Amino acid sequence: MTVLDRPHEIILSESKIKDKVRELGFEITDDYSHKDLIVIGVLKGSVIFMADLIRSIDLPIHMDFIAVSSYGSEMESSGVVRIQYDMKTSIEGRDVLLVEDIVDTGLTLAYLMDNFATRNPKSLKICTLLDKREARKPEIELKMDYVGFEVPNRFLVGYGLDYDESYRNLPFVAAIWD
Ligand code: IMP
Ligand code: MG
Repeated sequence: MTVLDRPHEIILSESKIKDKVRELGFEITDDYSHKDLIVIGVLKGSVIFMADLIRSIDLPIHMDFIAVSSYGSEMESSGVVRIQYDMKTSIEGRDVLLVEDIVDTGLTLAYLMDNFATRNPKSLKICTLLDKREARKPEIELKMDYVGFEVPNRFLVGYGLDYDESYRNLPFVAAIWD
C-alpha cells in the first residue's frame, strides 16, 4: 500500500473511481461504434486514468500521448503552455478523444483544443476524470464531453495527479495541504 505521508483527505476512493471509469468506458463505447477512434492522453497525469479507461472501451482503438508543460509554481499553473513531446500519429480525418486527468484553469486544454483543431480531425472531444470547475478562468470556454467527477477547488494528488512528481501511484484521489 502506497503511503501518503502528510495531512490529507480522501476525496475519491479507489472503488468510486473504478465504477466511474467503467461507466465512462461504456458511454464512449456507445458513442464511437463504427468510428475511427484515437485516444490521446496528456502526459504524465492522464496515464493511470488512460490505462484504465481504454480497457473499459470495447472497440478497436488506437492510442497516443502528448506532453505539455505549463509554467508556474508547484500548485498553480501560469497559462503559458508548450508542447514538449508531440504525438507520432496523424489525427487528420480521425475521431479524436483527448484524455486529461484534471481540468483546472482550463488553459492547458484550451491550448490543446486549438492546436488539435488545426490538424483537421474528423471530430474532437474531451474526456477528463476530474473537473475543478470553480477554478476555471472565466474567459475560457470548454465543452467537456465526458467528465468523471466535479471536484472542489483544492490541491489534489493520486491516480496520476502529482505534487512535485510524487503520489501519482496512489489508487485514490486525495486533497493535501501544508
Ligand atoms: P489547467 O491548465 O490549469 O487546467 O491545469 C491542467 C493541469 O494542471 C492538469 O493536467 C494537471 O497536470 C495540473 N493540475 C491542476 N490541478 C491540479 C491538482 O489539484 N493537483 C495536481 N495537478 C493539478
Ligand atoms: Mg495533466
